[in-house]
Amino acid sequence: MKILVTGGLGYIGSHFAVCAIQASKEIVIVDSLENSSLKVLDAIESITGTRPVFYQGKVQDRELMTQVFNAHSFDSVVHFAGYKAVGESTKEPLMYYQNNVAGSAVLMDMMKEYGVNKLVFSSSATVYGVPEFVPYTESHRIAPFNVYGHSKAMTEVMMQGLCEAQPDWSAIALRYFNPVGAHESGDLGEDPKGIPNNLMPFITKVAVGELAELGVFGDDYDTVDGTGVRDYLHVMDLAEGHLKALSWLDANKGFKAVNLGTGNGMSVLQMVESFERVNGVKVPYSIKPRRDGDLPAFWADASLAKELFDWQANRTLDDMMRDSWHWQSRHPRGYQS
Ligand code: UD1
Repeated sequence: MKILVTGGLGYIGSHFAVCAIQASKEIVIVDSLENSSLKVLDAIESITGTRPVFYQGKVQDRELMTQVFNAHSFDSVVHFAGYKAVGESTKEPLMYYQNNVAGSAVLMDMMKEYGVNKLVFSSSATVYGVPEFVPYTESHRIAPFNVYGHSKAMTEVMMQGLCEAQPDWSAIALRYFNPVGAHESGDLGEDPKGIPNNLMPFITKVAVGELAELGVFGDDYDTVDGTGVRDYLHVMDLAEGHLKALSWLDANKGFKAVNLGTGNGMSVLQMVESFERVNGVKVPYSIKPRRDGDLPAFWADASLAKELFDWQANRTLDDMMRDSWHWQSRHPRGYQS
């Protein structure tokens, strides 16, 4: 059973690659290396003992993709490749639509041409936009309010249309909440370029001394302590969710969008406190103004994933904190060290 993994050297894709290899799946990775590193391939190999076949390039590159599809007979595709910086997406909308939406269209077209009809796609809870209610269920209305979110929602719409037109297709869009943590080896983790946008890598970079303090974006929200609340889940739980989604595709047809989260919300200050408690490391912080475009609080109703393919997040908040720090402290400069 061969799986094409696009973006397989990125943060989430690489953790999936390890899970898939350890579940005896054969994988082929396509990654542009724009936001990743070849060192990730070495890490996957040292953890699993297997070096996956790798092609460097973009999913929109039909010539490359033709070469890949000609060389391998795939059973399914897990599509992680995509840009994910919300701020950048607002400044460079066409770049995001080209890469995330047009790229997905090329990929699905190639799949159709080669008779590969099972697809798992990295979507995001950001497709829901301002909550009408929390926890978000999959039937919450879709109303993203930035280009990145639109690019995810548009790809979901394409997948749905294709599944309606092609009755032999099955596809799942996994709507991730906030992935954190790292592989337990400490040799695979999140390695954002430059100053991180997201909370967890910011915390670990303060802890390791690379950044002086964490800015907490707002403490006057209507939440437990005034700071923003999110549903953080361990990246290995998330990775395993893709394997379970793939087994649903084996036995079912049609399109589904499914939340992957723990179902629990944690505030920014609760995250800082648990990081300090679990790891015995101080994280200095100060309160800053709210960040533009931030929502106060949201978390997942994750019951559909349980019902459809028996997935639930098993790792605890302490596991997330321990593994994030294990990775960052073993690799203070990410894959450069
Ligand atoms: C952000 C994106 C979302 C994307 C996700 C994963 C926005 C508005 N949303 O989600 O679309 O899918 O990243 O890439 O950018 N925080 C701080 N200080 C920091 C960083 C974050 O206080 O230095 C707070 C935020 O205000 C928020 C929480 O931590 O309350 C989580 O932030 P973050 O990790 O950026 O995730 P999201 O905003 O949920």
